[in-house]
Amino acid sequence: MYDAEGRPTDASRSRPADVPAHVPSTVTEAVLPGIVDPDGIQVRTRPARPAGPGQVGLAMEAAGVSFAEQQMRRGKYYDQPPFSFVPGYDLVGRAVDVGEGVPGDLLGRRFAVLTKTGAWASHVTVEAGDLTEVPESVDSADAETFVVNGITAWQMLHRLAKIRPGHTVLVHGANGGVGSTLVQLARIAGAQVVGTASSNHHDAVRALGATPVDYRAHDMHDQLRARAPQGYDAVFDHVGGEGIVASYRLLAAQGTLVAYGTASTRDVPGSSRAPVLKLFARLMLWNALPGGKGAHFYNIWAGRRRLGTFRGKLHADLGQVLSLLADGALAPQVAARVPLTEVGEAVRLAESGTVVGKVVLVP
Ligand SMILES: NC(=O)c1ccc[n+]([C@@H]2O[C@H](COP(=O)([O-])OP(=O)(O)OC[C@H]3O[C@@H](n4cnc5c(N)ncnc54)[C@H](OP(=O)(O)O)[C@@H]3O)[C@@H](O)[C@H]2O)c1
Repeated sequence: MYDAEGRPTDASRSRPADVPAHVPSTVTEAVLPGIVDPDGIQVRTRPARPAGPGQVGLAMEAAGVSFAEQQMRRGKYYDQPPFSFVPGYDLVGRAVDVGEGVPGDLLGRRFAVLTKTGAWASHVTVEAGDLTEVPESVDSADAETFVVNGITAWQMLHRLAKIRPGHTVLVHGANGGVGSTLVQLARIAGAQVVGTASSNHHDAVRALGATPVDYRAHDMHDQLRARAPQGYDAVFDHVGGEGIVASYRLLAAQGTLVAYGTASTRDVPGSSRAPVLKLFARLMLWNALPGGKGAHFYNIWAGRRRLGTFRGKLHADLGQVLSLLADGALAPQVAARVPLTEVGEAVRLAESGTVVGKVVLVP
């Protein structure tokens, strides 16, 4: 449906007679008005707008609650949007309206989209070039758990770390949204996986096919070293802080460290940028050292300035993940389905540290 540049391959605007466009009269959406507790997230209704040129209106069927919104709620996201705004990093929705220049045969079909903000709404308008189709056999909430998580995990494993059968991989936060996806995709790629998680999540991590280690254990790094005496071929670290040094030291001689977050600083007062800049400096320094180790920061939005290439990779990678889901090779981890109008409860649950997988908002 889209070429490698992310352009629709069918320029037709005709709509099948059996799927008419339908713009709802109103949109229900969640709003972050400022730095508030989960209860302070507001739910409001406003008039809906029709899709503009090149756009598609989606009826939201599932939208994710990610770690990013936990940081945004505290005003600590690296690329923090100004308050107030509608959060929501990704969604799965059905096309109900198409704008000028968009093929009418998209109407009635289901798509996944990465939005960064705006997905916590009953109706969401997005660029047609950002859509990736979801196989009809897959449940919307199940598919939703693999949008930002699937793209992130696939690209880190296959585009950065280049995982091969027989590799040994360390995944921090192995029961989380990205972490549980990393574990499953690494196992599918033929790797052995060790995963850190709090002890109450160890059974879940084992069920995904990884060996769990408690990240609160005082001897965590000794335990991790014992499970891969030659070092890890890849370490995926979303925790950052001082622990990143240990992650680097755990690498094998030709191993790759992929850092992709600074979760350890979520509740630390101060700038959201300083910990990230410190992390970048460390990674650059390590990359400049002689030897075969690599150290990268993964950013899902990197390369968006070359939009066609960015979209081409995103469609291909998310398409691979959704195919694996449709084939039953990936097990979706839906922690809970919570109505959009109860968004505060959904955020509280996602932040509780008691869930395995992803909390999903439903209409
Ligand atoms: N750079 C990018 O482009 C990109 C894209 C997507 C996500 N991310 C980042 O990925 C991270 C995970 O996001 P998510 O949505 O998957 O979050 P999530 O579902 O809330 O999972 C977070 C996980 O972190 C674990 N955790 C917390 N503190 C830890 C520690 N000190 N050591 C090891 N694990 C720890 C938690 O384990 P327990 O529940 O057992 O405590 C949980 O499994 C976030 O930092 C997010 O910003 C980055």
